[in-house]
Amino acid sequence: MHDLTSLPADFVWGVATAAYQVEGAVTEDGRSPSIWDTFSHTPGKIDGNDNGDVACDHYHRWPEDIDLMKRLGVNAYRFSIAWPRVVPGGDGAVNPAGLAFYDRLVDALLEAGITPYPTLYHWDLPQGLQDRGGWPARDTAEHFAAYAAHVAAALGDRVTQWTTLNEPLCSAWIGHLEGTMAPGLSDIAVAVPASYHLLLGHGLATQAIRASVPNAQVGIVNNLGYAEPASDSPADVAAARRADGHSVRWWLDPIHGRGFPADMVEVYGVDLPERPGDLETIAAPLDWLGLNYYFPTAIADDPSGPPPYTREVHRPDVRRTAMDWEIRDEGLERLLMRLTDDYGASRILVTENGSAWPDVVGPDGQVDDPERVRYLEEHLAACIRAVRRGAPVTGYFVWSLLDNFEWAYGYDKRFGLVYVDYETQQRTIKGSGHRYGDLIRAHRRDG
Ligand code: NOJ
Repeated sequence: MHDLTSLPADFVWGVATAAYQVEGAVTEDGRSPSIWDTFSHTPGKIDGNDNGDVACDHYHRWPEDIDLMKRLGVNAYRFSIAWPRVVPGGDGAVNPAGLAFYDRLVDALLEAGITPYPTLYHWDLPQGLQDRGGWPARDTAEHFAAYAAHVAAALGDRVTQWTTLNEPLCSAWIGHLEGTMAPGLSDIAVAVPASYHLLLGHGLATQAIRASVPNAQVGIVNNLGYAEPASDSPADVAAARRADGHSVRWWLDPIHGRGFPADMVEVYGVDLPERPGDLETIAAPLDWLGLNYYFPTAIADDPSGPPPYTREVHRPDVRRTAMDWEIRDEGLERLLMRLTDDYGASRILVTENGSAWPDVVGPDGQVDDPERVRYLEEHLAACIRAVRRGAPVTGYFVWSLLDNFEWAYGYDKRFGLVYVDYETQQRTIKGSGHRYGDLIRAHRRDG
């Protein structure tokens, strides 16, 4: 069905997870609470009042999970390192037991022929730093770089592929403006400095990694929005342009040395906490850009909402996942071309793509998930089209290896290629996992 031969022979076939979503073991070996422990333990914040205390117990079951990756046939694993395990206070002393977990994981991955792609920040800020101001405070960016330096010093002899931040858009806008993710704030006056310091932290961490790992390949992972006007009214067209500024240009322009988009600074109406030299730090050269893509959105003008004064319109008669997200692979192709054409990307990784469905284990013990198979195939086809059009896409990671803690949605939403029975922690490779493995093997054979 696909012409997989269009993909480079050394294509990276991966799966992704994140620490708080899979590890559990939240009080073990010196880990401190993160903002997500606090948030998920606040009644009413998470569907079913779920939390990540146990999650997939990956902290103990990682050898079994690496075996699953081997069975799928992937050659890369994108995971995140929990800052509260490594530097429990947020700044100051390193916790050797916390680092040792990732040290073992990296060794075992390499032994299995799987390249580790660690992300330094996938939303689990140490609560102690939140108590001192969190991302709206400049110090947090500096502490992040110090933590990155510790991790790079410990793993840099074996890890070459480094990600600073995962989806800073969510940390900044959902965590500080919409309030449905940790730390649960709703104030543009703190959201704008949070976004700024996240990007500053990214730039400082990039410098720190490069200082200790000369052959490091450093990237950042963004979830870029694909915003379409809900109608052709001038107000909706302008709204879609603001949504694009909010979810694409705000994150890509500064790291490409273009500064923060002036039109959005005006929309937000908040001064940037800029100091001389910051913009150069933020624009530290990168080796690759990560794109997380899930769905497109129809955007309408909404002067009554928070900045950027837009709202998503529910389009009828559109295929949707269990998240109620629209399914449209064309958005992925478009964003890959935009990274290529507008931002001159030299290497792009699709660092997340996937879909949630109400999976069940059948009487035969199998998990049949044809919708996830279809989503996967359609989106891989979009990658292939982009590659044919010149996009330098060098890898693709499915979100996720395992069903896991889907943030505010708790455990109800399942994204895994592998089903997790949370009562027994039993893992079952779903039909989509088998299909992914077949595609990888076909590419290896023919590609
Ligand atoms: C993006 C996030 O990085 C990940 O943590 C999340 O589970 C998936 N999207 C699905 O929502």
